[in-house]
Formats: sequence, structure tokens, C-alpha cells
Amino acid sequence: MKINIEPSIMYFGTPVVLISTLNKDGTTNIAPISSAWWLGWSCMIGLDATSKSTENLKRNGQCILNLASGDLADKVNNLALLTGSKEIPVHKKLLGYKHSKDKFIDSGFTPKREASESINRIDECKIQLSAIVENMNEFAKNDTRMAIPTYAIELQITQVNASPDILLSDNENRIDPNKWNPLIMNFRKLYSLSSELNESRLAIKSEDLYAPWKRKGAVRFLTNRILKFSNKKYGH
Ligand SMILES: Cc1cc2nc3c(=O)[nH]c(=O)nc-3n(C[C@H](O)[C@H](O)[C@H](O)COP(=O)(O)O)c2cc1C
Repeated sequence: MKINIEPSIMYFGTPVVLISTLNKDGTTNIAPISSAWWLGWSCMIGLDATSKSTENLKRNGQCILNLASGDLADKVNNLALLTGSKEIPVHKKLLGYKHSKDKFIDSGFTPKREASESINRIDECKIQLSAIVENMNEFAKNDTRMAIPTYAIELQITQVNASPDILLSDNENRIDPNKWNPLIMNFRKLYSLSSELNESRLAIKSEDLYAPWKRKGAVRFLTNRILKFSNKKYGH
């Protein structure tokens, strides 16, 4: 039996991502988010419109998504209830948010910058995704339960950096799920994964089937033709 309930939040369990964005003065703001999902090399994130991260993305259009692992829960906690915005909106004041001038210092995370980039990565995060904003839409505007202004932001991932110790030993382009332990936000509490449950039918065939652009020569040509024909049916 199930009963009808009215939860205040629907945080069913999603990975914690620390988003690095560029402040106006050239420093980097970092913030934990958990409204994030991926399809291919594109990503959707959900952001409070009043956040410093949103302001920075609107102005600069770039970010780095640093994926947190279970061992980083303490440092992520240090970032909670902080904002890079000097002016704190009422809803955040009520929740006890404070302004932070430098969240790297306040959290204990280590900034690391690639020579070609202007935004600092978080060195402790073993997966770091460079991304650009593709689209930004107001979110849940007609939902009377949405108490604050929010955006759904589509990002295109431009580069993936990963720590060698979480990769498959025989394929450096693949993350080994047995070595990667994402930090999960589950109804505002922090969890890590336990162990693999059973053999996943979805994972039986090669992961490379998801990446036709990796094929070469005639196989690539043929795959592209077949996909083009098939996608047309669905209006793409
Ligand atoms: C674990 C965790 C997950 C969060 N998830 C989100 C989220 O998905 N979207 C969002 O807008 N804020 C989320 N927040 C709250 C932001 O971190 C908060 O709005 C913060 O002030 C943003 O920082 P900024 O104003 O410097 O950008 C989350 C906070 C924590 C601790």
C-alpha cells in the first residue's frame, strides 16, 4: 500500500557537484549543487536564480563541474549555507546562509588552475568537467509551490579531466564504477554508495556504443548514416 503524501522537498538522491564559476574580479566562486544530470556530453543543472553561481554563469557562460566523492563530505559541509553573494536574499537569510569572500579558504578545498583556463578547479575532486552554457531557461515558473526564482541551465561539456586512479586499468577513457564513489545528497543528507548490487543488463554491451563519434573510417560513416536516418523519424 502507498499513501498520498506532500513532501516539502523532492531530493530523492543525486550526486553532489561543486560548480566553479568566475567572479567579476577574476577570482573563482565554488558552490555545492545536486540538481544535475547528464545525457551524452550535455548536462542540465538547476540553480537558484539569486546565487552567485547563476550571476557568474549569466555573465561569463563558463564553469567547471567538480564531482565530489564520498570522502569529501566534510569539506562539502563546510561549503553548505555559504554564498558568494554579498547581498543575501531573504530565503537564504531564513536558512542561516552567510556570505563568504573566499570559499576555498572557508571550505579547505584546494584551488588548481590549468594554464589555458581562467577558472580554478577543485583539486580534491577526481572528476572535473569543463563546460559552457548552451541554454538558460526560467524553471517552474507556473508551479505555485516553487517559492524562489530558479533556472534550468543546459551545459555542454568541453573537456573531461579524471584522476588516473579511478580509471579502468585497460581503458584510460573509462571511469571504473568500482573505483568511483560519488557523494550523494539524499533528502539534504550526505551519503556514499555501498557496493554493486547485481550484474546490470544495461551495462552488458560496450560503453563505446554510446559514442559513435569515436568510430573510424567506413564504420563511422555507416553509423552516422544509420543514425541520421533513424533520428529524422523523431524530428531531429
Ligand atoms: C549538498 C548541497 C546540494 C545543493 N544543491 C543545490 C542545487 O541543486 N541547486 C541550487 O541552486 N542550490 C543548491 N544548494 C544550495 C547552494 O549551494 C546555495 O544556493 C549556495 O548559496 C550557492 O552558492 P553561491 O550563491 O555562491 O553560488 C545545495 C547545497 C548543498 C550543500
